[in-house]
Amino acid sequence: MDQPKVAGTAPQMEELESGNTYAWCSCGLSENQPWCNGAHKGSSFAPNVFKAEESKKAAMCTCKQSKNPPYCDGSHKNLPAE
Ligand code: FES
Repeated sequence: MDQPKVAGTAPQMEELESGNTYAWCSCGLSENQPWCNGAHKGSSFAPNVFKAEESKKAAMCTCKQSKNPPYCDGSHKNLPAE
């Protein structure tokens, strides 16, 4: 699996807390979007682990096409229509 699964077609708003560490799902297989649940095991994907620099509400990418992961950059608008 070289391409991530499109887990969603719109960003998911999440409350990030300053100093907390988060693991964003990059493979799209997690049932706990936008976060990693270990479903990538056996694939070439690994979660994007990051520490929140500030407490804020953030638009997390669920389509897995963002050029600025783990955040939505609007790339979901370029997804082919289903
Ligand atoms: Fe992926 Fe917006 S949800 S770029």
